[in-house]
Amino acid sequence: MKKKNMAKTVLVTGGCGFIGANFVRLILETRQDWRVINLDKLTYAGNLHNLEDVSGHPNYRFVRGDICDQTLLDNLFSEEQIDTVVHFAAESHVDRSITGPAEFIQTNITGTFTLLEAAKKQWLDNGQKNEQCRFLHVSTDEVYGSLGATGFFTEQTSYDPRSPYSASKASSDHLVRAYFHTYGLPILITNCSNNYGPYQFPEKLIPLVLNNGMQGKELPVYGDGGNVRDWLYVQDHCEAIVQVVEQGRRGEAYNIGGHNEKNNLQVVELLCDMLDKKLGLLPSGKARRSLITFVKDRLGHDRRYAIDADKIDQELGWTPKYTFEQGIEKTVTWYLDNQEWMESVMDGSYQEYYTKMYGK
Ligand code: NAD
Ligand code: DAU
Repeated sequence: MKKKNMAKTVLVTGGCGFIGANFVRLILETRQDWRVINLDKLTYAGNLHNLEDVSGHPNYRFVRGDICDQTLLDNLFSEEQIDTVVHFAAESHVDRSITGPAEFIQTNITGTFTLLEAAKKQWLDNGQKNEQCRFLHVSTDEVYGSLGATGFFTEQTSYDPRSPYSASKASSDHLVRAYFHTYGLPILITNCSNNYGPYQFPEKLIPLVLNNGMQGKELPVYGDGGNVRDWLYVQDHCEAIVQVVEQGRRGEAYNIGGHNEKNNLQVVELLCDMLDKKLGLLPSGKARRSLITFVKDRLGHDRRYAIDADKIDQELGWTPKYTFEQGIEKTVTWYLDNQEWMESVMDGSYQEYYTKMYGK
């Protein structure tokens, strides 16, 4: 009954992770007529605390489960009459993909395939044939490989993934596109650059440096610190995804980027200076830049990423709202104001929250 008033019933996968949680919150705040089903396995990267404030929202349902579980997905699609998928769930950390690629192949490739099958069954084979249906696959600029000193990735750039993570994402992108060309599944793909902001797991550069910097621990910089990333505030990424879901052309890919290239050393030094300013110098009287430690480089470390985001700007009118200065100020403030969140992640107690909430 209630569903009649709902403009969309969205299956968000990986909604307890960094970008997924920011996306779910944005939807519940801005789209009163969307119902959100968050399917998350709660791996080490999934944290129920990230959505604690919206867990009782009437348009929100959390389901703990694996995107590789075909029966679970089939039941969810038919029970909830899902008409939109926003697919974040993935193993997302490049370093982990180098030491243990198997999970990346399983979740990123097999999981995406299983999700495509569920959508195809519900939307095409079972005849839902709803014009409104959309399957948005959230992907990465890393599928394009590594740039030299100049140039940008466009949607026409050939795929050249170089880590097990990016190869698994490239593979899933190809599968998603194949379901459009072969079966006519209404897919969309977004390829985004490096995100930063609240709720990012402290294995990634910015939260890792903030956490270590607050505690006066070493700040590891891989190689010479000259690798360049194109940083985007997570809220901007989430707003771009909403626009692509609502206005993107079926079968199309859209690059999303921050127009904001920085090398890693620049980012780490900036964070050191911001912490010094907000917290004072270290107890030793030294500035936090003294914690910077150059360590062994990441294997196969891509040198530079930079996104040409003209297509999404021209077609959908999306450009980032936050400058790096604004986004990083909000981010540093958030981590300083949410040290309990960081502590529960570091001591592992965040993983007990599911049992506390759901009793198993
Ligand atoms: P994250 O690692 O913070 O979160 C991943 C989420 O997926 C977690 O909640 C985890 O529990 C869940 N998950 C993992 N395996 C699952 C499975 N088998 N079934 C169900 N849930 C599962 O990741 P993130 O940084 O938020 O990235 C989200 C997506 O965006 C990924 O697809 C990633 O490739 C893509 N992306 C990330 C960035 C970035 O800078 N972080 C940039 C571009 C694209
Ligand atoms: O470009 C988009 C990608 O950005 C996403 O697809 C990935 O999911 C996301 O993790 C991110 O990948 P990166 O490998 O670029 O992010 P990470 O934060 O791990 O590293 C950023 C840069 O900082 C990279 O050049 C490696 C470097 N680095 C990282 C860590 C964790 C360090 O120098 N020291 C560190 O301790």
